[in-house]
Amino acid sequence: MMNRFKGKEIQALLTKEQIEKRVKELGAEITHAYRDIKDPLILVGVLKGSVLFMADLCRAIDMPIELEFMGVSSYGEATKSSGAVQITLDLTRPIENRHVLFVEDIVDTGLTAKYLYGNMRTREPASLRLCSLLEKPSKSKGEVKVDFLGFTIPDEFVIGYGLDLAGVYRNLPYVGVLGSDV
Ligand code: PRP
Repeated sequence: MMNRFKGKEIQALLTKEQIEKRVKELGAEITHAYRDIKDPLILVGVLKGSVLFMADLCRAIDMPIELEFMGVSSYGEATKSSGAVQITLDLTRPIENRHVLFVEDIVDTGLTAKYLYGNMRTREPASLRLCSLLEKPSKSKGEVKVDFLGFTIPDEFVIGYGLDLAGVYRNLPYVGVLGSDV
Protein backbone atom coordinates (compact mmCIF):
# COMPACT_ATOMS: atom_id res chain seq x y z
CA MET A 1 0.00 0.00 0.00
CA MET A 2 1.12 3.57 -0.59
CA ASN A 3 2.84 4.67 2.57
CA ARG A 4 5.53 7.02 1.31
CA PHE A 5 5.57 10.34 -0.50
CA LYS A 6 8.85 11.71 -1.86
CA GLY A 7 10.83 9.91 0.80
CA LYS A 8 8.52 10.90 3.61
CA GLU A 9 6.61 8.28 5.51
CA ILE A 10 2.84 8.65 5.84
CA GLN A 11 1.72 8.08 9.42
CA ALA A 12 -1.88 7.26 10.27
CA LEU A 13 -3.54 10.03 12.27
CA LEU A 14 -6.93 8.31 12.15
CA THR A 15 -7.12 4.62 11.34
CA LYS A 16 -9.66 2.97 9.04
CA GLU A 17 -11.31 1.44 12.11
CA GLN A 18 -11.55 4.76 13.98
CA ILE A 19 -13.12 6.39 10.92
CA GLU A 20 -15.60 3.56 10.39
CA LYS A 21 -16.74 3.71 14.02
CA ARG A 22 -17.14 7.50 14.05
CA VAL A 23 -18.98 7.56 10.70
CA LYS A 24 -21.51 5.07 12.08
CA GLU A 25 -22.01 7.28 15.15
CA LEU A 26 -22.46 10.38 12.99
CA GLY A 27 -25.00 8.52 10.85
CA ALA A 28 -26.98 7.67 13.98
CA GLU A 29 -26.78 11.29 15.26
CA ILE A 30 -28.03 12.62 11.93
CA THR A 31 -30.81 10.03 11.71
CA HIS A 32 -31.98 11.09 15.18
CA ALA A 33 -31.71 14.83 14.51
CA TYR A 34 -33.86 14.65 11.37
CA ARG A 35 -36.29 11.97 12.58
CA ASP A 36 -39.38 14.20 12.22
CA ILE A 37 -38.85 15.66 8.74
CA LYS A 38 -41.30 14.71 6.02
CA ASP A 39 -39.36 14.92 2.76
CA PRO A 40 -36.05 13.11 2.24
CA LEU A 41 -33.01 14.85 3.70
CA ILE A 42 -30.77 16.38 1.01
CA LEU A 43 -27.07 15.64 1.52
CA VAL A 44 -24.85 18.04 -0.41
CA GLY A 45 -21.27 16.84 -0.82
CA VAL A 46 -18.63 19.46 -1.58
CA LEU A 47 -16.32 18.05 -4.28
CA LYS A 48 -13.92 16.49 -4.39
CA GLY A 49 -12.72 15.77 -0.87
CA SER A 50 -16.08 14.74 0.58
CA VAL A 51 -16.71 11.86 -1.81
CA LEU A 52 -15.34 9.00 0.30
CA PHE A 53 -16.88 10.31 3.51
CA MET A 54 -20.20 10.87 1.75
CA ALA A 55 -20.27 7.31 0.39
CA ASP A 56 -19.83 5.87 3.88
CA LEU A 57 -21.92 8.44 5.77
CA CYS A 58 -25.02 8.15 3.59
CA ARG A 59 -25.10 4.40 4.22
CA ALA A 60 -24.95 5.04 7.97
CA ILE A 61 -28.04 7.28 7.82
CA ASP A 62 -31.21 5.26 8.33
CA MET A 63 -33.82 7.40 6.58
CA PRO A 64 -34.66 8.52 3.03
CA ILE A 65 -32.04 10.86 1.59
CA GLU A 66 -31.21 12.50 -1.74
CA LEU A 67 -27.64 13.05 -2.88
CA GLU A 68 -26.41 16.27 -4.43
CA PHE A 69 -22.92 17.63 -5.04
CA MET A 70 -21.42 21.07 -5.40
CA GLY A 71 -18.13 21.91 -7.01
CA VAL A 72 -16.22 24.92 -5.79
CA SER A 73 -12.90 26.38 -6.75
CA SER A 74 -10.76 29.07 -5.27
CA TYR A 75 -8.14 30.75 -7.39
CA GLY A 76 -5.13 29.99 -5.23
CA GLU A 77 -4.61 30.70 -1.58
CA ALA A 78 -4.57 34.48 -1.93
CA THR A 79 -8.08 34.51 -3.34
CA LYS A 80 -9.27 31.86 -0.91
CA SER A 81 -8.19 33.87 2.07
CA SER A 82 -10.35 36.70 0.79
CA GLY A 83 -13.31 34.30 0.84
CA ALA A 84 -13.89 34.46 -2.91
CA VAL A 85 -15.06 31.04 -4.06
CA GLN A 86 -16.55 30.17 -7.42
CA ILE A 87 -19.17 27.50 -8.03
CA THR A 88 -18.05 25.08 -10.75
CA LEU A 89 -20.89 22.59 -10.33
CA ASP A 90 -24.29 23.50 -8.93
CA LEU A 91 -27.20 21.55 -7.45
CA THR A 92 -29.48 19.80 -9.92
CA ARG A 93 -32.74 20.80 -8.17
CA PRO A 94 -34.26 23.59 -6.10
CA ILE A 95 -33.94 23.16 -2.31
CA GLU A 96 -36.69 25.55 -1.24
CA ASN A 97 -38.42 24.32 1.94
CA ARG A 98 -36.16 21.26 2.08
CA HIS A 99 -33.77 20.21 4.84
CA VAL A 100 -30.19 20.41 3.58
CA LEU A 101 -27.03 19.01 5.16
CA PHE A 102 -23.64 19.95 3.74
CA VAL A 103 -21.05 17.19 3.86
CA GLU A 104 -17.38 18.21 4.00
CA ASP A 105 -14.19 16.27 4.53
CA ILE A 106 -12.52 19.14 6.38
CA VAL A 107 -13.25 22.62 7.67
CA ASP A 108 -10.00 24.53 7.86
CA THR A 109 -10.39 28.32 7.65
CA GLY A 110 -14.17 27.95 7.27
CA LEU A 111 -14.23 30.21 4.22
CA THR A 112 -15.62 27.57 1.86
CA ALA A 113 -18.43 26.72 4.26
CA LYS A 114 -19.19 30.39 4.88
CA TYR A 115 -19.50 31.08 1.16
CA LEU A 116 -21.69 28.02 0.57
CA TYR A 117 -23.98 28.97 3.46
CA GLY A 118 -24.44 32.46 2.03
CA ASN A 119 -25.16 31.09 -1.40
CA MET A 120 -27.60 28.39 -0.19
CA ARG A 121 -29.55 30.69 2.13
CA THR A 122 -30.81 32.69 -0.85
CA ARG A 123 -32.50 29.48 -2.07
CA GLU A 124 -34.59 29.36 1.13
CA PRO A 125 -34.14 25.80 2.43
CA ALA A 126 -36.15 24.75 5.49
CA SER A 127 -32.84 24.25 7.32
CA LEU A 128 -29.15 24.27 6.53
CA ARG A 129 -26.55 22.42 8.57
CA LEU A 130 -22.98 21.24 8.18
CA CYS A 131 -21.40 17.84 8.78
CA SER A 132 -17.61 17.57 8.52
CA LEU A 133 -15.38 14.59 9.15
CA LEU A 134 -12.54 16.84 10.30
CA GLU A 135 -12.07 20.28 11.77
CA LYS A 136 -8.93 22.20 12.63
CA PRO A 137 -9.72 24.24 15.73
CA SER A 138 -6.71 26.50 15.60
CA LYS A 139 -8.11 28.85 13.01
CA SER A 140 -10.88 31.36 13.51
CA LYS A 141 -14.11 30.10 11.96
CA GLY A 142 -16.16 33.25 12.25
CA GLU A 143 -19.82 32.36 12.12
CA VAL A 144 -19.33 28.85 10.73
CA LYS A 145 -20.37 26.07 13.09
CA VAL A 146 -19.92 22.38 12.35
CA ASP A 147 -23.18 20.81 13.51
CA PHE A 148 -22.03 17.20 13.14
CA LEU A 149 -18.28 16.74 13.60
CA GLY A 150 -16.22 13.58 13.24
CA PHE A 151 -12.83 14.57 14.68
CA THR A 152 -10.94 17.65 15.78
CA ILE A 153 -7.39 17.37 14.46
CA PRO A 154 -4.15 19.33 14.96
CA ASP A 155 -3.19 22.01 12.46
CA GLU A 156 -1.18 19.69 10.24
CA PHE A 157 -1.43 18.83 6.55
CA VAL A 158 -3.55 15.69 6.31
CA ILE A 159 -4.12 13.33 3.40
CA GLY A 160 -6.24 10.30 2.58
CA TYR A 161 -9.92 9.31 2.87
CA GLY A 162 -10.74 12.00 0.30
CA LEU A 163 -8.03 14.52 1.16
CA ASP A 164 -5.32 15.03 -1.44
CA LEU A 165 -1.70 15.94 -1.78
CA ALA A 166 -1.20 17.61 -5.16
CA GLY A 167 -4.26 15.74 -6.44
CA VAL A 168 -3.32 12.25 -5.30
CA TYR A 169 -3.67 10.09 -2.16
CA ARG A 170 -7.44 10.60 -1.87
CA ASN A 171 -7.88 6.80 -1.96
CA LEU A 172 -5.87 6.05 1.18
CA PRO A 173 -8.35 4.23 3.47
CA TYR A 174 -7.13 6.22 6.49
CA VAL A 175 -6.25 9.85 7.30
CA GLY A 176 -2.52 10.36 7.48
CA VAL A 177 0.14 12.97 8.01
CA LEU A 178 3.52 13.18 6.34
CA GLY A 179 6.15 12.14 8.82
CA SER A 180 9.88 12.59 8.90
CA ASP A 181 12.25 11.76 6.03
CA VAL A 182 13.15 8.09 5.76
C1 PRP B 1 -10.95 21.54 0.92
C2 PRP B 1 -12.12 20.89 1.68
C3 PRP B 1 -13.05 22.03 1.89
C4 PRP B 1 -12.13 23.23 2.00
C5 PRP B 1 -11.96 23.57 3.44
O1 PRP B 1 -11.25 21.55 -0.43
O2 PRP B 1 -12.70 19.84 0.97
O3 PRP B 1 -13.95 22.19 0.82
O4 PRP B 1 -10.87 22.85 1.44
O5 PRP B 1 -11.06 24.64 3.61
P1 PRP B 1 -11.50 26.03 4.24
O6 PRP B 1 -12.30 25.75 5.48
O7 PRP B 1 -10.17 26.67 4.55
O8 PRP B 1 -12.28 26.79 3.22
P2 PRP B 1 -10.16 21.85 -1.55
O9 PRP B 1 -10.23 23.30 -1.94
O10 PRP B 1 -8.82 21.32 -1.12
O11 PRP B 1 -10.71 21.01 -2.79
P3 PRP B 1 -10.89 19.42 -2.92
O12 PRP B 1 -11.97 19.01 -1.96
O13 PRP B 1 -11.31 19.22 -4.34
O14 PRP B 1 -9.57 18.78 -2.59
